Amino acid sequence: MTTEDLTTATALDKSYVDDLFGVSAQLREAGPVHRVVTPEGEPAWLVTRYADVRAALTDPALSLDNANARAGYRGSALPPALARHLLNTDPPDHARLRRLVGQAFTARRVDGLAAGIRTAADALLDGLAGQPGADLVSTYAAPLPMTVICDLLGVPTADQGRFREWTHILVDSAPDRGRRLRAAVAGIDGYTRDLIRRKRADPGDDLLSALVEARDVGDRLSEDELTSFTFVLFAAGYETSMGLISVGLLELLRRPALCAAVRADPARLPGLVEELLRFCVPAALATRRFALGPVEIGGVRIPPGDLVLLSLASANRDPEQFDHADELRPSRGPGHLAFGHGIHHCLGAPLARLEARIALDRLLARFPGLAPADPAAPPRWRPSTRTHGLLELPVTFGKD
Ligand code: HEM
Repeated sequence: MTTEDLTTATALDKSYVDDLFGVSAQLREAGPVHRVVTPEGEPAWLVTRYADVRAALTDPALSLDNANARAGYRGSALPPALARHLLNTDPPDHARLRRLVGQAFTARRVDGLAAGIRTAADALLDGLAGQPGADLVSTYAAPLPMTVICDLLGVPTADQGRFREWTHILVDSAPDRGRRLRAAVAGIDGYTRDLIRRKRADPGDDLLSALVEARDVGDRLSEDELTSFTFVLFAAGYETSMGLISVGLLELLRRPALCAAVRADPARLPGLVEELLRFCVPAALATRRFALGPVEIGGVRIPPGDLVLLSLASANRDPEQFDHADELRPSRGPGHLAFGHGIHHCLGAPLARLEARIALDRLLARFPGLAPADPAAPPRWRPSTRTHGLLELPVTFGKD
């Protein structure tokens, strides 16, 4: 494939990021599968249609394991100590990991986080009180999910800033990120190993302590599996939640009547968050697979080892699946693929939903006059093809 002419392939560059849904629609209308080049310069196949994406998410001929990539694959290569996680593992190992992790990451644990999320949201909003306006990404949409994952794991507050920096580097698509990426990965690895040692010696009421204890008929998570899982929680859970809260707020503030309706009746929040997930697609292009053998998708034959990107951004806006797919309709109901589908369906989905509902609820209740600082200003998107989120969201608070 290295000799293949990729001049006609679509580059997943800044113009793709800046017009994610426009370019996705053009590609989807032009065909079910496209040749693209990732920001790392890696050739890939992009799958656009809802039906194909959903089927591919459960296709055993498509692997998540980097080891199945063709020789010379230029995607992110993690050291083995961080690569033994759910999103790099196929059956049967995946089932074992998910069972062990599932013992600790229970619905009860997630429900138990609600009060802490409310307290964290209110503390951030207290910091904004009295100001005429603020950037809601740096002051709210970013710190809240970081605090939630750190609290879930038992990472002390003082260390959370370092995790935010490492995580940003992980999900950044900048082509020159090689050295910074290695430093971030080493930082997470070293810190997590130390934290695991501390939890072993002095267990707390947190997820990491429960994971250290998790056992299954004599089996337990190895230290590499524990560090890899911690790593994947940040990689999979932080930027996505920030994206949902930031882009969700942007869309909400663009619709004052919807804002007023939700303020008047917060029971509408669960339906709204579900539709925001479909509409905003925080994990826009985060689902990547490698063909195990020759695979056919939408009539296109994909050779073994090739990278396949399942575009959730495109699937969630496919008019074949959703009526008026480009309209935000909170009464629409389920069916979106924002959390994936099948055995890798997002483990953190209940937490992500809970967090977004609380984040929107507290903010809207606190600032009745909340509005975009400049409604005509075009959004500035994070430079990532994997996730869809804002770099900033300047707002004014109006009169309290
Ligand atoms: C998997 C999206 C929040 C942890 C996934 C997948 C998607 C996704 C699409 C499947 C990836 C694939 O099939 O390749 C999202 C979105 C979120 C979110 C849109 C927020 C709005 C979270 C949070 C956590 C989390 C808060 C945990 C703290 C995970 C894990 C997996 C996963 C561990 C791997 C599951 C497996 O492979 O079995 N997520 N996620 N996610 N997510 Fe999330």
